[in-house]
Amino acid sequence: MTGRRVLVTGGAGFVGTHLVDALVAGGADVVVLDDLSNGTTDHLNSRAALIEGSVTDAETRAEALDGAEVVLHLAAIASVPLCEENPELSAAVNRAAAIELAREARQAGVSAFIFVSSAAIYGEPTIIPIDENHPQVPIGTYGSHKAEADAAILAMAESGLPLSVIRPFNIYGAGQDPTSSYSGVLTIFTNRAQAGQPLTVYGDGEQTRDYIHVSDIVSSLCAVASSLVEKGEASPCHGRPFNSCSGHSTSLNQIISTLGNALGKSLEVVNEPPRQGDPRESVGDGQALHSAIGWTSSVSLEDGLRQLLD
Ligand code: NAD
Ligand code: UD1
Repeated sequence: MTGRRVLVTGGAGFVGTHLVDALVAGGADVVVLDDLSNGTTDHLNSRAALIEGSVTDAETRAEALDGAEVVLHLAAIASVPLCEENPELSAAVNRAAAIELAREARQAGVSAFIFVSSAAIYGEPTIIPIDENHPQVPIGTYGSHKAEADAAILAMAESGLPLSVIRPFNIYGAGQDPTSSYSGVLTIFTNRAQAGQPLTVYGDGEQTRDYIHVSDIVSSLCAVASSLVEKGEASPCHGRPFNSCSGHSTSLNQIISTLGNALGKSLEVVNEPPRQGDPRESVGDGQALHSAIGWTSSVSLEDGLRQLLD
């Protein structure tokens, strides 16, 4: 994407800052649209231009889309509990703004549009591992709104906009706020374990997730965007949803044991009731993205956790 103008919404967030770094390193001309509600300029690449504003605002979207050739739409309320607390905000950001932005990107003649959806759209799995055709029965507000945006954007595939939808599983790595209760569980646990504080486990700790390192998510997004830019609607990625996952299932109790071993101490755990909107199991099938463009995840959970602890 060298020399191309790339709009990254949510580019000041956890995944966004890593993605922007990769795009800038590849020679892209990056514009970030972020309202900084959960992002910060502290880690934002100085070579990216920032438009500080909301994706829910039509004028701001128009300003951000001006001249954009590629759009990666990440801006969202990414926390499952925050969406339960504020469903109106989730509806406006996670559903309405995503659909509007895709429509406007098509009108603006953008050559590649990627919507970052979520594995949460599948809900409690009935078939493991979860592939892209798994039934979608999202449990909570976040998953429902992501599912509606995901479907509406895929339905635009015949409209002349080269597009893909990426459904990440549980992303972890450096860059999430360790003190925020809305951050991912691995950030919270590594921070608390190192500080000698108790870990709160919602439920019995046997819930599983497919943890994928942020650098793998970034490489999957860049690979899909490159394919769309290069081949347009002839790309094997066009009009399709793809899981971005490791394909490995890990329980919270396994994570706690791994962290305890790495730190050489037993960790104090406090059990609380399970969280609303929480699936019991989650593990993805990443075969579709591998077959389409040869992408596969490369960072093991052991290496990723070690990096996080460092
Ligand atoms: P994040 O909260 O760190 O990043 C989201 C960014 O969007 C933040 O910088 C925030 O300030 C910004 N934002 C929120 N509302 C906005 C608005 N109205 N206008 C403009 N900007 C706004 O979250 P993340 O973990 O980096 O997630 C990035 C994307 O990946 C999100 O779409 C999320 O739903 C999706 N996702 C994340 C995970 C994960 O495990 N972190 C897994 C699956 C999908
Ligand atoms: C995460 C993402 C969400 C994404 C989804 C895809 C975050 C903040 N959320 O949601 O954007 O779409 O993956 O699969 O990254 N837990 C504890 N104690 C804690 C924190 C969490 O027990 O202190 C438990 C939760 O109840 C849950 C599991 O850990 O069972 C994972 O929670 P979390 O990291 O918040 O991720 P998801 O809710 O799966």
